[in-house]
Amino acid sequence: MAEKSFKYIILGGGVSAGYAAKEFASQGVKPGELAVISKEAVAPYERPALSKGYLFPEGAARLPGFHCCVGSGGEKLLPESYKQKGNQLFLSDCISPVSMSCLIHLVPLVVIPSMLHFSAKVIVIVELNRATFPLFFVFAGIELILSTEIVKADLAAKSLVSAAGDVFKYETLIIATGSTVNTVLRLTDFGVKGADSKNILYLREIDDADKVVEAIQAKKGGKAVVVGGGYIGLELSAALRINNFDVTMVFPEPWCMPRLFTADIAAFYETYYTNKGVKIIKGTVASGFTAHPNGEVNEVQLKDGRSLEADIVIVGVGAKPLTALFKGQVEEDKGGIKTDAFFKTSVPDVYAVGDVATFPLKMYGDMRRVEHVDHSRKSAEQAVKAIKAAEGGGAVEEYDYLPFFYSRSFDLSWQFYGDNVGDSVLFGDSNPSNPKPRFGAYWVQDGKVVGAFMEGGSGDENKALAKVAKARPAAESLDDLTKQGISFAAKI
Ligand code: FDA
Ligand code: NAD
Repeated sequence: MAEKSFKYIILGGGVSAGYAAKEFASQGVKPGELAVISKEAVAPYERPALSKGYLFPEGAARLPGFHCCVGSGGEKLLPESYKQKGNQLFLSDCISPVSMSCLIHLVPLVVIPSMLHFSAKVIVIVELNRATFPLFFVFAGIELILSTEIVKADLAAKSLVSAAGDVFKYETLIIATGSTVNTVLRLTDFGVKGADSKNILYLREIDDADKVVEAIQAKKGGKAVVVGGGYIGLELSAALRINNFDVTMVFPEPWCMPRLFTADIAAFYETYYTNKGVKIIKGTVASGFTAHPNGEVNEVQLKDGRSLEADIVIVGVGAKPLTALFKGQVEEDKGGIKTDAFFKTSVPDVYAVGDVATFPLKMYGDMRRVEHVDHSRKSAEQAVKAIKAAEGGGAVEEYDYLPFFYSRSFDLSWQFYGDNVGDSVLFGDSNPSNPKPRFGAYWVQDGKVVGAFMEGGSGDENKALAKVAKARPAAESLDDLTKQGISFAAKI
């Protein structure tokens, strides 16, 4: 059992971890100071790809194509980049000034055997036009510790213990454990009959996505039942249909994506999906499954008495933040780990970012948890900026987040900014038979526009949505907003 100590540990290897590592790299971190610990076997990647490009029948997205931070147009951090990042960052720290002239050499070198587990390198830096020129010996970068699940956290002792018994000590911890799938339909947790049949699949991590791809290939053109009418439900129903499956979507609510869509918005997507051949069953849930003698699922029983044939079942019935390791050790709120506007938790030197954080949403004066990629990136960057600023005796501005969600499926693409509260109005052409649908919605509370949505918006139109949701201008009337449509936002 090994024990290792780091100045900073990022626990989790998802989107927030990737963006936190990138921010540490740009702020400056010395070799060996930072570790990223993840139970996944791959370096941080842009999770949204798993329910979209990863499932395409042709030209599918594969790693290393979507490692963080390509999703926001940033540099792609390949596994080897983590080590290199630490190296580059060491440059700011002068060990031994040497007078030399004008070249930079990066010379791979094998050195001190005890340090060989780090990436051994010597960097000779020579800077032109400077009075002193530093020479650096760099032995390590950011340590990426993969396939390592942390099973115990002791925040008072500042230590984490892995499933293999290795101990990781830290001075500062960033909790970036994200979410896991809701298991309300699992046999092991809830005794749902037949829920352990083969090809009943969930989607959170890349291993899950590989199982979906394997099942798609094994059951080509078969029948798929998608349980859940939220993000996974809509994106996976489309992906399976594109793969030529006969798809039925089942969810309990009166319309799809009820946590964001109004009935009017949902009506567009439901008709569009139906036109694409997806069958939709509302107002009921899966209550059990039966399997073939070989253990593969063959039928889904619904609570309303119906049953559906299935070669594959995808379950997308929500996510739960992974906070269990820290229960009783840190203050929680609304199911997540409570933080301040710098993502500091109630425990000194412990930060929480991404899906697990319940943070102050300044513009609404409210504590929120957000399960979307834009916030996971920005919260990670904010936490690292705050950590580094505090070390230098400074501070950063409070996090002032404008909620932003998006989704893509089939040829559709929508974006939403702000808050979906109050009354709402639709604008534009929401006819699902239109080959290029382009419509939107505003939400109005206390006479002000607080949320804006658009399907098929251009880059400029989407920017206008963000502006209007941030500015929260007064609206004359709902009718006027419908008439003005996107031009209302464009004027802000
Ligand atoms: P994330 O889940 O990315 O990472 C958590 C990491 O911690 C994982 O690597 C996990 O293995 C690791 N971990 C957890 N516990 C651990 C332990 N005990 N020990 C070691 N490692 C541990 N959002 C959006 O806005 N648009 C979109 O299109 C999509 N699409 C999308 C598709 C799919 C399939 C999913 C599952 C999610 C999305 N999302 C999304 C949501 C978005 O991906 C999500 O909000 C972010 O990934 C959250 O980032 P985090 O870093 O908080 O968690
Ligand atoms: P979700 O919260 O979006 O949807 C959950 C859905 O599950 C509900 O709408 C409901 O229809 C259904 N449901 C709830 N209980 C049920 C039951 N007992 N039986 C049948 N259906 C039931 O969650 P999700 O779609 O599972 O997504 C998981 C996570 O991944 C979320 O955090 C989500 O934000 C994230 N995600 C986001 C995107 C995106 O932003 N584009 C895409 C994919 C996943």
